[in-house]
Amino acid sequence: MDVIALRRSWNQLAVAGPEAAKYFYATLFLTAPETRAMFPADMRYQEDKVLAALGHIITNIDDPDALTAFAQRLGADHRRFHGSDHEGRPVQLAERHYIWVGQALLATLEHFVGPGWTPTLRADWATAYQAVAKLMLAGAARSERVAPPFWQAEVISTERRRADICVFTVRPNYLCNYLPGQSLPIQVPTMRTWRYLSPANAPRPDGTLEFHVRATGRFSTHLVRRTAAGDTLLLGHPVGTALSSYDRAPHRRLLLIAGGTGVAPLRAILEQLQRGSGRPTTLVVGGKTPDDLYDHQALLKLAATAPEEAWSAAQDEQWLRYVPTVEIGWGWDGEVGRAVHTALRLGSWADADILVCGSPAMTRSTITALTASGVDPARILTESYDHSLYPPLSAPAGPTPRDPTTWTGVR
Ligand code: HEM
Repeated sequence: MDVIALRRSWNQLAVAGPEAAKYFYATLFLTAPETRAMFPADMRYQEDKVLAALGHIITNIDDPDALTAFAQRLGADHRRFHGSDHEGRPVQLAERHYIWVGQALLATLEHFVGPGWTPTLRADWATAYQAVAKLMLAGAARSERVAPPFWQAEVISTERRRADICVFTVRPNYLCNYLPGQSLPIQVPTMRTWRYLSPANAPRPDGTLEFHVRATGRFSTHLVRRTAAGDTLLLGHPVGTALSSYDRAPHRRLLLIAGGTGVAPLRAILEQLQRGSGRPTTLVVGGKTPDDLYDHQALLKLAATAPEEAWSAAQDEQWLRYVPTVEIGWGWDGEVGRAVHTALRLGSWADADILVCGSPAMTRSTITALTASGVDPARILTESYDHSLYPPLSAPAGPTPRDPTTWTGVR
């Protein structure tokens, strides 16, 4: 297989950007109308997701180890994408869907590569695609034995904390195992759009999950304004490996820095620590004004609760130092300034593991300030989730950019 030729032809497609994505979906929906109901009703914001991923994966086909693990997990995740037949009956994603997607991909390449589209190149693309599809199907079959394709979760309570922030609790129909710090794809069935949200609680015996959502776009505004107790949401398989690896060196102090609803995964991690033997931890939550500290009461309570195991009374230090900080606050008697500057004023963090979670801009500037202060970047953990894990189609093929878009960025 000529990987260089694959990459070159992929770049020709990438130059066409959204046009190529339009062509791909038009071909797919025309040749396989059954697939239309699997995708969001409004495709404007995510047209290039699948196609971008396909190109990215296939042009990295010469790294079989990374590809195998990744494609198998992606295939397992894909079990949540279900459609419906002409009589409205649910249709699970199966081998024929992969064939249709493969055909639409080849047709799109042929259209955009033009005269360079030779029978050899076509055969190479077909072989590469089949290899990936096979891995994804194998991943799906394996996960079939251990987990449902998705969970149906009933909203059991909603709490408006601010005009644009809602905290809601859901109960999935089966126990959904996840690690604190991970996030789950969530769908409002009427919108057929999936977005990632991170539970704000450590796994509970009753399986309920608490989510924090700020209205910033169509999806999150729908959740904040329209979701009510009794509604059903769908949950996909938990993903994310960065924040959830907070325990990789339990002997180190922890510094957690949060902004906006980025506090949610960090609270889940803190709850998990509190259930064990604790760990010297500092949590700095930043906001523009005190009004932004929408989870203040829950965090105060957590800081006042001793770890369940073995936190020695001789350690007069509290296991959790909670430091809210605001940029502007009339009558505010706490810390003033941006979260990272407050954290740096509190001491040196060279020996700590640091978790950062907030908007992309907040995360970026926090990491910059921390590294400028001498912190080893390897000690900083932050999750990278947009609604796609891949570079946009118009970007040159290459490594996934580590642009951290967290749950505050859910649109
Ligand atoms: C080798 C084949 C495929 C690859 C590499 C691939 C890759 C991806 C990726 C990376 C995503 C984004 C996932 C996320 O952000 O959570 C995605 C989403 C999706 N994929 Fe696939 N996919 C493939 C095949 C298929 C097939 C055969 C179907 C069914 C016809 C399908 C249907 C979907 C749907 C419905 C979404 C969600 C789209 C959205 O919400 O915008 N995919 N795919």
